[in-house]
Amino acid sequence: MLTLGIETSCDETAVAIYDSGKGIVGESVFSQIDMHAEYGGVVPELASRDHCLKIISVLEEALGKGKIEDIDQIAYTSGPGLLGALLVGESFAHGLAAGLGVPTIPVHHLEAHLMAPALDFDDINFPFISLLVSGGHSLIIDVKGLGEYSILGESQDDAVGEAFDKVGKLLKLPYPGGPHIERIAKEGNPKKFNYPRPMINKNNLDLSFSGLKTAVLYSIRDLDNLDEHIPDIAASFQRAAIDVLVSKIKKSMLQTSRDTLILAGGVAANGLLRKEMSNLENEMGIKVRYPAMKHCTDNAAMIAYLGSLKTPNLSNQGQSCARPRWPLNEV
Ligand code: KG4
Ligand code: ZN
Repeated sequence: MLTLGIETSCDETAVAIYDSGKGIVGESVFSQIDMHAEYGGVVPELASRDHCLKIISVLEEALGKGKIEDIDQIAYTSGPGLLGALLVGESFAHGLAAGLGVPTIPVHHLEAHLMAPALDFDDINFPFISLLVSGGHSLIIDVKGLGEYSILGESQDDAVGEAFDKVGKLLKLPYPGGPHIERIAKEGNPKKFNYPRPMINKNNLDLSFSGLKTAVLYSIRDLDNLDEHIPDIAASFQRAAIDVLVSKIKKSMLQTSRDTLILAGGVAANGLLRKEMSNLENEMGIKVRYPAMKHCTDNAAMIAYLGSLKTPNLSNQGQSCARPRWPLNEV
């Protein structure tokens, strides 16, 4: 069974093919980052237009020497995400599916991130705790089975990736700030600025990052020579954000007695976060897994894979089900 996956929820145009017997047999991602960088963030209308321009060449690259006629079903991201961008992927999926005479499967973007580590490891078994950290979401989820998700905690304001990106902007780093903060932090002293660790002492598993970002803003306002402090600010901010995540994850593992932790989403590409979470393997005797870098950030392999686990609903083929807002527990 060959499932074609299509991802266009934000600023990556991606297509992949998942073979139920062999795994991923083709994948391609085109990132629009360079186009949005000059605006300091994703411009929704530009994103939709660029998905239209690139989707066919991305499909051709993912297919390689494979034949489109061999595809059995098409999974696509139907939410959450930017509405215009989602509609490009959905219309393309519907058109292609009608032409090929195959069914479509709408897929939840965050659910796909959650299951992405199964692309890289064959020892991922339910139940597990997932730390899903991206530009739009920061969630701690108890994953009991496919489609059985209990949200244990989530950010009450900015997502952690959003905080990295906003701090990146304050530090005049290119968009998106996350990877640049990680790079520059390597040259800085994480103890130089004593930033707050929001909600770290609260007993619940909720998160908050906007106060941390504001603390960075205030510390910058007091400086005459920002440039020479950038590595220390980046390192101190990154340390504070990751301290909060580590503390909340420890609490969640203790509260639920789960023995597996899976990291997912773009921020799971962060080396310090990976190292700190890996340390918990020894400290807490748990198993920690994170996807390959290319499966942390937005990609279509995770969409094709999740689609392959679902059954197409043949009663609503061709109908639009794009949902810019779509809570994970409504999957
Ligand atoms: O999952 P993703 O590709 O897109 C969303 O669905 O949001 O995540 C993108 C987010 C951005 O905020 C980006 O700055 C962050 O992931 N990110 C990182 C790193 N690489 C990507 N944050 C911290 N450190 C990184 N190395
Ligand atoms: Zn994502």
